[in-house]
Amino acid sequence: MDALLITKSGKLGGKIQLKGAKNSILPILAASVLTKDDVFIGNCPYLSDIDDMIKIIRSIGGKAEWDNGGISVCCHDVDPFGIDRTLMKKIRSSIFILGPLLARCGEARISAPGGCEIGKRPIDLHLLGLSELGVGVAEDRESGLVSCYGRPKGGMLRLRCPSVGATENLMMAAALCEEPTVILGGAKEPEIIDLAHFLVAMGALVVGAGTDVIAIKGQSELHGASHLPITDRIVAGTFLAATAVCGGDVLLDGAISGFMDCTLYKFRMLGMEITDYGCGIRASSHNRPKAIERTVTMPYPGFPTDMQPLLTAALAVADGESTIIETLFESRFRYCEELKKMGASIEQEGENTVRIFGKRLHGADVKAQDLRGGAALTTAALGADGITYISGVEHIDRGYERIERDLSNLGANIERISDF
Ligand code: EPZ
Repeated sequence: MDALLITKSGKLGGKIQLKGAKNSILPILAASVLTKDDVFIGNCPYLSDIDDMIKIIRSIGGKAEWDNGGISVCCHDVDPFGIDRTLMKKIRSSIFILGPLLARCGEARISAPGGCEIGKRPIDLHLLGLSELGVGVAEDRESGLVSCYGRPKGGMLRLRCPSVGATENLMMAAALCEEPTVILGGAKEPEIIDLAHFLVAMGALVVGAGTDVIAIKGQSELHGASHLPITDRIVAGTFLAATAVCGGDVLLDGAISGFMDCTLYKFRMLGMEITDYGCGIRASSHNRPKAIERTVTMPYPGFPTDMQPLLTAALAVADGESTIIETLFESRFRYCEELKKMGASIEQEGENTVRIFGKRLHGADVKAQDLRGGAALTTAALGADGITYISGVEHIDRGYERIERDLSNLGANIERISDF
């Protein structure tokens, strides 16, 4: 297993070229199962989660290959019972395959998905929604197997909460339905708009993506498409956090500021100067970050839960006391114990609130336990006195393509040690 070795870094400077968003590419790859034709998705980062989704598509009989910085997929023939159970358990996004498989084959069997341990992460909304679209669902709690029968027919349904994954799964299930589908209370994340664009490029009609009422008119067949995904707003936010911690002046080429309003608002409150230069954003920081009294994570357009650990890393060295309230995932503060090994002063109050008292951090031997928590440790280590070793880098590799390459291109002192 790899580790990161990070030594306190000076100011960052330079340009990062952002790649496609992991959380767009994963459902779009699954949506490729909806057509027998060729699909191409461009500007894909090499991430282990994406590679695992490629393997899942292969396990059901599809062809999927990395191709010139993108991914080519052809699902001419698919086996609705062939999905690899070990891969299913490896990534949470494996659940995305269920909606498209059912739409395409009228039956499917999967096992419950795994993924980052940031909370319970049930799939009840996915299954309830599918049954409201006319699918028969049978769950065997002991084996963890979920068997579904019948092609989704369409209809109107309301989600209990705006789950990103359930909204996406149901949009994909609806794309081959005879009757129209209306999803009320759907999620509004930019990645949902991106998926809608892909479904439209394949021939489906989708209106309302980006609002909480999404209508889909399916087609009896969808055709192939090429798609360029939106860039990764959480990766962009990670480099903002690194710049807040180290100081400096960086260009995030391809960053879409319109999808990052709440994140940019918070980083401006830290004292950063952030401007949109048309095809990206420029961020500079020249002083110690300022504390932020209160931040609450919320579904889009609120402050993203995925940015919560990154903001904490910046607040851990800020001047003053800050509070963060996490409302989406109940175990998303686990990385705080590791930050404390670096000298961070963080107090957890109840399950969902932390108080952070900014101070100088020092290097330590720490372990990444989930994707964004691992990125937060990396960010904090850049500003910590001395040397930090971070193990568990495989978690970071799920969502960042060689984070050490991009950070060292900005001038950070970071290297990967293989087989640590
Ligand atoms: C997506 O996860 C993202 N993953 C997550 O990104 C992100 O943190 C999350 O949305 C919230 O923005 C992908 O897009 C691949 P949810 P998802 O369903 O779809 C509850 C990252 O770091 N819920 O919107 O799994 C759930 O427990 C990650 O890149 C149910 O109760 O999240 C949570 O409290 C990790 N039943 C809330 O909804 C369900 O069936 C939101 O979860 C589904 C969800």
